[in-house]
Amino acid sequence: MSPIIYHDIPSLRAALQPYRGHEIDKQDRQQRIALVPTMGNLHQGHLELVKIAKQHADIVVVSIFVNPTQFGVGEDFDSYPRTLDDDVAKLATVGADYVFAPSVDAMYPVLPPPTTVLAGAISSQLCGQSRPGHFDGVGIVVSKLFNIVQPDVAIFGQKDYQQLAIIKQLVRDLSYPIEIVGAPIIRADDGLALSSRNQYLTESERQVAPILHRELQDLAEQLKGGGISQQAFESLLKDKRTRISDAGFTIDYLEVKTEALGSVVSDSTTFNIENKNIVILVAAWLGRARLLDNQLVVVG
Ligand code: PAJ
Repeated sequence: MSPIIYHDIPSLRAALQPYRGHEIDKQDRQQRIALVPTMGNLHQGHLELVKIAKQHADIVVVSIFVNPTQFGVGEDFDSYPRTLDDDVAKLATVGADYVFAPSVDAMYPVLPPPTTVLAGAISSQLCGQSRPGHFDGVGIVVSKLFNIVQPDVAIFGQKDYQQLAIIKQLVRDLSYPIEIVGAPIIRADDGLALSSRNQYLTESERQVAPILHRELQDLAEQLKGGGISQQAFESLLKDKRTRISDAGFTIDYLEVKTEALGSVVSDSTTFNIENKNIVILVAAWLGRARLLDNQLVVVG
């Protein structure tokens, strides 16, 4: 069945109202609502989020909104692919119940909104460094979506690792009664993480793109034993950056962080990452596409 589409806040709220609290289903259970926020141009990665949402809730709402406040000047807001009809057809195959596809005016009566949601230090590193203000835009739009839909659970992909960490922090700090579920990265057969921006790649760039994942896997393999010296660690990273650049990428960052995106513990002689989960994060340009990927490593 095709999901029902709403373009404005009051009609979505009215549609969801019957599920809240008092309505019970055949098993005498309260209905749980899941939210899957997206910017549309859906691919299998998004559809897997919907499948996970269905395991956690009775009603699944997918938002499709290319959010202007998270795009910087000169970024691809205008050219970002908008494919609502195709998206809705895909969502029908995975059983989404409602699509919320608001206009910019419906979401932002005043643009930019004078009220801000700032995530602090976690948002100024990594992607936040090269895209200043990006996560402030994500913060406000996700806060608004949480208030509009009031879901019990919301699903986000681990592909955008920093975004997921920021949203967990937002939910904790603003006391949203929402469970946040992180979903695994969905990849093409050759390892490239699926992304709406992959379509910016030319045919030959698309052949090169999976190298990013392969290099991350290789680095993960070398780090998983732990206990290497700081110097050896630095030179591993340097070697990786060179290999990725030589393959044709322009690296934005390649960094190793703790799972919570803190600095990995180190001193001048020993790089102490034993028995800790770490994450390798990369952002790199290939032609017109800025590719993101990450790899968790269980050390020790
Ligand atoms: P968008 O890039 O459309 O992604 C929507 C959701 O799909 C995010 O949670 C993202 O992490 C997840 N996703 C994308 N590609 C994935 C893949 N290959 N595997 C698993 N999950 C994947 O992220 C955004 O939109 C926006 O910033 C948003 C949160 C909607 C706020 O505007």
